[in-house]
Amino acid sequence: MQNLDNDLYLRALRGEKVERTPIWVMRQAGRYLPEYRATRKQAGDFLTLCKTPELACEVTLQPIDRFGLDAAILFSDILTIPDAMGLELELEEGIGPVFNKPIRSKAMIDALAVPDMGSGLGYVMDAVGTIRKALNGRVPLIGFTGSPWTLASYMVEGSGSKEFRRIKGLMFEDPAATHQLLGVVTESVIEYLHAQVEAGVQSLMVFDTWGGMLSTSNYQAFSLAYMQQIVASLKSKHPEVPIVLFTKGGGQWLESMAETGCDGLGLDWTVDLAEARRRVGSKVVLQGNLDPVVMNTSGAQVATEAESVLASYGQHDGSSKGHIFNLGHGIQPFAKPDNMRTLVETVKAKSAAYHL
Ligand code: CP3
Repeated sequence: MQNLDNDLYLRALRGEKVERTPIWVMRQAGRYLPEYRATRKQAGDFLTLCKTPELACEVTLQPIDRFGLDAAILFSDILTIPDAMGLELELEEGIGPVFNKPIRSKAMIDALAVPDMGSGLGYVMDAVGTIRKALNGRVPLIGFTGSPWTLASYMVEGSGSKEFRRIKGLMFEDPAATHQLLGVVTESVIEYLHAQVEAGVQSLMVFDTWGGMLSTSNYQAFSLAYMQQIVASLKSKHPEVPIVLFTKGGGQWLESMAETGCDGLGLDWTVDLAEARRRVGSKVVLQGNLDPVVMNTSGAQVATEAESVLASYGQHDGSSKGHIFNLGHGIQPFAKPDNMRTLVETVKAKSAAYHL
């Protein structure tokens, strides 16, 4: 394996002692950056950007070049899997992702198959290879997937949703069909992550954006159980590749999430970092959790709030696995690029005191 110039993120995820807190940001390549908007315009639309490895590579590196973050994340989307399954993804301006052929019947679930990783999703693996080459060992590359529950939610709803009437309706009325759907999505996710690792990603993150919409027992049965299968399969073949699980709104389930055998947990801003550390910090690394809206305020506010996140995790004294700085969810299009610079500089300057 190629040596990295900056392997702080991977060392932190392994629970090793590091000299300062590493930082990367969810959606770090996105619309708040003028250079991202320019490349997307050149591509024509978002999906073409994802499907053109050279352009996906270009936007992946934009925030690395500009801000000196400690990890790059593959530029793609979680909805590439259902797109490759034939649901036909489109990103509608002002609405978000929409499927032309959402799941509307049991027959459509029966007809679903694991997509071919070469013909269906080869562009993602090509992007990974292109990005690894362009990074040339500067920082590690994070690969990712949506959780089966989150992917199934979009597949059944056909778009984003507030109430999740269709997917929850299916879960309550036909749990067997829901498990069948989650099963084929899980198999696809597992193959997809194995392929990403083989193409060169150096750590993995599972985005369970909608698991937090479930009751505790349904979270266990319909979301966590499938993420557990994913962790088990990846760990059996690639034990050296760290895995971070992120259930937005999942703060009350951290103990059971930590028991999956994952290496880290992503936390949203509603979770108190000090309390999360007491609960699961000796088992897993914690990643997060500044409220993304702070990035739309002043630089002084960003610095103050970032310092309070560092203080909230506290001293890296060997009693816990450690902290990786991130936001509690993706950075928003309204964020000021200069605030990202302030955030990175603050974390780099102020975190060393917590690693003595
Ligand atoms: O973090 C990164 O920089 C890597 C790229 C990345 C994107 N989407 C790019 C993107 C990642 C990791 C994702 C994951 C993703 N996609 C999630 C999980 C994380 C989360 O936010 O909860 C979800 C739920 C999606 C589905 C999705 N894709 C939505 C809801 C949207 C619309 C969002 C919006 O703000 O309009 C997308 C499109 C999307 N994916 C954009 C980006 C940069 C915006 C596209 C654009 O207009 O240029």
